[in-house]
Amino acid sequence: MDRTQVVIPAGELERQRTYTRRMAALLAGDRRPLAMVDTYGCQQNVADSQRMMGMLREMGCGFTQDPRLADIILVNTCAIRENAEKKVFGVVGQLVHVKEERPECVICLCGCMAQRPEVAEKIRASYRHVDLVFGPQALWRLPELLYGVYTEKKRVFSVADEHGSIAEGLPVVRESGVKAWVSIMYGCNNFCSYCIVPYVRGRERSREPGCILDEVRELVEAGCREITLLGQNVNSYGKDLETPMDFADLLGEIDRIPGDYLIRFMTSHPKDAGEKLFAAMASCAHVARQLHLPVQSGSSRVLGAMNRGYTREQYLEKVRAARRAMPDLVLTSDIIIGFPGETEEEAMETVSLIREVEYDALFTFIYSPRPGTPAARLPDPASREEKQVWFDRLLDEQNRISGRRHRSYVGKTLRVLVDGESGDSQWPLSSRTHGGRLVHLRGDASLIGRYVQARITGSNTWALFGEAE
Ligand code: SAH
Ligand code: SF4
Ligand code: F3S
Repeated sequence: MDRTQVVIPAGELERQRTYTRRMAALLAGDRRPLAMVDTYGCQQNVADSQRMMGMLREMGCGFTQDPRLADIILVNTCAIRENAEKKVFGVVGQLVHVKEERPECVICLCGCMAQRPEVAEKIRASYRHVDLVFGPQALWRLPELLYGVYTEKKRVFSVADEHGSIAEGLPVVRESGVKAWVSIMYGCNNFCSYCIVPYVRGRERSREPGCILDEVRELVEAGCREITLLGQNVNSYGKDLETPMDFADLLGEIDRIPGDYLIRFMTSHPKDAGEKLFAAMASCAHVARQLHLPVQSGSSRVLGAMNRGYTREQYLEKVRAARRAMPDLVLTSDIIIGFPGETEEEAMETVSLIREVEYDALFTFIYSPRPGTPAARLPDPASREEKQVWFDRLLDEQNRISGRRHRSYVGKTLRVLVDGESGDSQWPLSSRTHGGRLVHLRGDASLIGRYVQARITGSNTWALFGEAE
């Protein structure tokens, strides 16, 4: 794919701004129009929603979380598991009442679910109160798509299967001044056999390093303290650039930006993570000693069937290498239990792997078949009940490990970033360690947005507790 076809030309983005101005004129009235953006799924979706909010703000919109007050409702969806989709169908189903009461309210469904042909068809046929449906690759055309709905008074579907593109310079509404998400690449080429993402997010495409550096620099200059770089597999960053550059090089470049800030990133695919990355993390002062390295399974046979591209042993070797480079590394992972054909013995290999690695925390899922993926066509003899038993054993083990790891922090004093209020009167502040662990903190709200020294006084399975010094 030619890069010039991937990066949206400036003229095309200018054309979208023309639609933004037309929308602003259409929406202008005695009161400020309100938009509601309801976001499901991963940080990539959160970052996309912030860009869509940026475009809506330029159309003159304010924001609400109350669907009864909104003129435009945007539901940004996730397709990763069936439960995620069911939840969205529930939410969108309820919006029929809003449409009955106020037919002028425009209801949009976007994001990863919208890109699934079966979902788009179901919305077309059975959710007739939804006016606009578009997938993640069409996001930058939001102004034009909305203008179509408003002026042509008909439903608009923009869900063609697209390679995907890169639109630079879209406006962004960030939720806090302290933390920010920065997408460094879009799409995924890995086609893990269980996963829907490559089908709904298009092919891998990397932003130019200069654009990423400018964005990070601006954020740091504006006082942002923690920036998380996003991509489905940040380790394949740069492979598609005209002047190749890898993720470790990008970290090195970012690290040269002066200021008091921390860089995190996710997600790192183990097959492409190696010594160069670990060395870069260890030597870059601004990069957190934190690695989310999803293993998915501890059985080499299951890993093969998942098309993950590494064995149990190869994974364990990477963990050893990462810890050699960074002895204080905070390590987390994702696990899928109950992949089609997985036996009890194989599931227990996953339990033994987490015992061996001793992750700080895990994100655990029971396999959910995704129509159109190769795994969904495999025989799946284990019952839901059996899988639940394996899953509970995994959780029990991890809870013990997390509890133990968290206890080892008690008595220490650590530098943490205070990122907001917790809503708990006893521990009013929430903060994060360098490695990303949550610390409920006693201290004054004036500390929000600052790095402070926290004395850790307690812990449980999920978090630490401490006093600001
Ligand atoms: N790109 C990331 C993962 C994105 S999806 C990576 O490769 O690590 C986040 C997590 O959802 C995955 O790591 C996986 O554990 C889980 N997941 C993906 N598809 C799933 C499915 N069909 N059923 C259950 N869990 C799934
Ligand atoms: Fe899905 Fe695998 Fe791509 Fe992650 S790397 S998004 S699990 S296909
Ligand atoms: Fe869900 Fe799409 Fe993210 S499927 S997990 S929102 S990339």
